[in-house]
Amino acid sequence: MAVKPIITLPDKRLRQRAAPVARVDDEVRALMDDLLETMYAAPGIGLAATQVAVPKRVMVLDIAKREDEAASPDPMAFANPEIVWASQETSIRQEGCLSIPEFFEDVVRPARVRVSYLDRDGKRQELEADGILARCLQHEIDHLDGVLFIDHISRLKRDRIVKKFGKAAKRDIEERKPPRRTAEAESA
Ligand code: NI
Repeated sequence: MAVKPIITLPDKRLRQRAAPVARVDDEVRALMDDLLETMYAAPGIGLAATQVAVPKRVMVLDIAKREDEAASPDPMAFANPEIVWASQETSIRQEGCLSIPEFFEDVVRPARVRVSYLDRDGKRQELEADGILARCLQHEIDHLDGVLFIDHISRLKRDRIVKKFGKAAKRDIEERKPPRRTAEAESA
């Protein structure tokens, strides 16, 4: 397993639509393991392959500690996840993203979703989720479609944050600094 660098705004690769995997083989399982290790190291509660510049429909989550600090890790890995149903009912919750460090904003999304996906063994599974799990699933599946949580907030706020990260990236290049990283536990 290996910790991979997480790409951040304004990296254009975050806007790529990821391709489905043909099957869950050892290579995909190795990617799942790398994503989990990278997510735990960040630390974060979710990570999509898009965020480590691998344009494949693979993502991981672990919300156990978010719900109970004393909980043991509960890694979840998904290949080719798809939202097959979303509730009319919505919920509002603050989101963050490892690719947009230190920025948090309220986002409205369907409160419950049902997701179809392939598990680590390549078996088709369906999962119905609410609360933070529903939230994270939608956030990560968005990443696989090149969508960021800032696309769900007001244009005014989005333009402001895009501009800020554009300027910071330019400054980092000029000063030859590594990209900014976050230590926020709730980012995905
Ligand atoms: Ni994210």
